[in-house]
Amino acid sequence: MEGLWSGVEPLRPGAPHAAFSLIVTLLFDVWSVQGLEMIVGKIPFLEAVNGSTVMLPCSYESCIGIDNLYFNWQFNDNGTMIKVCEAEIASEDVEPPVKIFRDRVEFVGKNHKKNVSILLWNITFEDAGQYTCYGRNPKEKGRNHSAIFTLYVVDELRVVDKTLTIIIASTVGGAIAFLIGFMLLKNFTLFVLAKLEEKNKECLVTSSGIDNTENGLSGSKAASKPTPKKK
Ligand SMILES: *[C@@H]1O[C@H](CO)[C@@H](O)[C@H](O)[C@H]1NC(C)=O
Ligand SMILES: *[C@@H]1O[C@H](CO)[C@@H](O)[C@H](O)[C@H]1NC(C)=O
Ligand SMILES: *[C@@H]1O[C@H](CO)[C@@H](O)[C@H](O)[C@H]1NC(C)=O
Ligand SMILES: *[C@@H]1O[C@H](CO)[C@@H](O)[C@H](O)[C@H]1NC(C)=O
Ligand SMILES: *[C@@H]1O[C@H](CO)[C@@H](O)[C@H](O)[C@H]1NC(C)=O
Repeated sequence: MEGLWSGVEPLRPGAPHAAFSLIVTLLFDVWSVQGLEMIVGKIPFLEAVNGSTVMLPCSYESCIGIDNLYFNWQFNDNGTMIKVCEAEIASEDVEPPVKIFRDRVEFVGKNHKKNVSILLWNITFEDAGQYTCYGRNPKEKGRNHSAIFTLYVVDELRVVDKTLTIIIASTVGGAIAFLIGFMLLKNFTLFVLAKLEEKNKECLVTSSGIDNTENGLSGSKAASKPTPKKK
């Protein structure tokens, strides 16, 4: 601690101020680079069933603060950007008047905690696609910021059917494969045992001279059983 301060003290009175303003300038540069950020979350896509109601999440973050932040949601309709809604946010946590240009759209974020999410009611297959959450902060000389959220619309039945079929197929298939494997192993073991027994039997046959296989088999068992008893 002492050594640290002793290094600062010898500087001329004006120097700490210069260093301080330099640090402030550097920090401000970093801040203005990170200025505004539009955030759609860690998972920027959603798969939803047609007819359901989904939320397109978006929030903003700004280190330098906002001043009449302009924001909108745009839908990429086959290459053409169509405005879904737009608003000018006077300040943080004040609900702005939002203009909505599409049916079934509701501004649920309400700028509560910088939340500018929208709700899409009763989605159809036409609603699938890329949605851009766009923001422009006048404090940053109109720099553009945006984040893309993708909506996939699927048919419930097909998905459920597919998953169920896959689950059933894999379960049944797995069980069958296991059974087949088990039976193959069992049969193979039995086959090997039978072969071994056949060899034994052959030995027994040659020794005892019994021609009937079944009798020979039981005979061999019968013949082999008494032997331990004798021992
Ligand atoms: C979803 O789409 C299918 C096929 O177009 C349609 O039969 C079904 O009614 C739709 N579901 C809803 C909830 O709109
Ligand atoms: C997208 O644009 C292409 C070419 O402009 C067109 O052929 C296609 O039908 C369009 N698709 C939709 C869904 O509008
Ligand atoms: C969504 O669909 C339900 C049931 O069909 C309907 O009652 C509701 O008004 C629809 N909502 C919107 C915003 O279109
Ligand atoms: C934004 O607001 C909606 C609706 O109130 C809520 O469901 C969502 O969790 C909020 N998102 C964040 C990041 O707070
Ligand atoms: C922001 O985007 C608009 C439209 O694409 C463009 O005209 C403008 O020059 C951009 N502003 C900056 C600062 O890049």
